[in-house]
Amino acid sequence: MSGLKVKKMEELPNLRKDYTKDFIDENLLAENPLTEFEKWFKKALESNQAEPNAMSLATVSPEGQPSVRIVLLKGLQPEGFVFFSNYLSRKGKELENNPLASLNFFWPALEQQIRIEGKVTKIPHEESNVYFQSRDRGSRLGAWASPQSQKIQNREFLLERIQAIKKQFENQEIFPKPEFWGGYLLIPHTIEFWQGRESRLHDRILYEKAGENVWTKSRLAP
Ligand SMILES: Cc1cc2nc3c(=O)[nH]c(=O)nc-3n(C[C@H](O)[C@H](O)[C@H](O)COP(=O)(O)O)c2cc1C
Repeated sequence: MSGLKVKKMEELPNLRKDYTKDFIDENLLAENPLTEFEKWFKKALESNQAEPNAMSLATVSPEGQPSVRIVLLKGLQPEGFVFFSNYLSRKGKELENNPLASLNFFWPALEQQIRIEGKVTKIPHEESNVYFQSRDRGSRLGAWASPQSQKIQNREFLLERIQAIKKQFENQEIFPKPEFWGGYLLIPHTIEFWQGRESRLHDRILYEKAGENVWTKSRLAP
């Protein structure tokens, strides 16, 4: 039975899909994985993949408890991957304590996955400000109003906060970025490209940083 027809929980073991869309030709891979990432990402943008810039971000608590959530890729720099968040959120505090983190993109429309591991730093305040000011007014007000990841009593708390912030900035089209909000840059030391293949014999190519601008490539078993 085709896994795609599964509609009931009891049939969950049958929910599977065969991957046949593409393959990785090792001879065509770029020397630098960020160049390769850009090639894959451009294809994802051109495909009908929803939210291709949505990526899972994994961080670790001081106790060693991993946690993961989706954030949006907002820029690709020669050094790495840029995303934005609240510096006082759970992820923000975890990154402060331990800057090692992992990203994962899954593009079902292309049967592709990309896993990235590296070290996160905050981007310069001015760069965060430029991005903050490019956001629509609602998102800018939201960044001020939400104490991201904190426990709140109810939704009214949030609505009252947003009203207060709206009032504070009511006559200002441009208002400052909160100090507690901004961008991060994940500088990778490994990037794995995964292409689904027939009968689970997927292609996996791992890039590992071996020095300044030097990367090794290895094939991994699926
Ligand atoms: C598609 C999607 C995109 C998201 N993008 C972001 C983002 O760019 N930055 C962000 O802080 N949270 C984003 N979120 C919300 C996060 O997943 C998460 O709920 C929030 O950042 C709090 O995470 P934390 O408590 O682990 O710090 C997004 C959620 C989804 C589903």
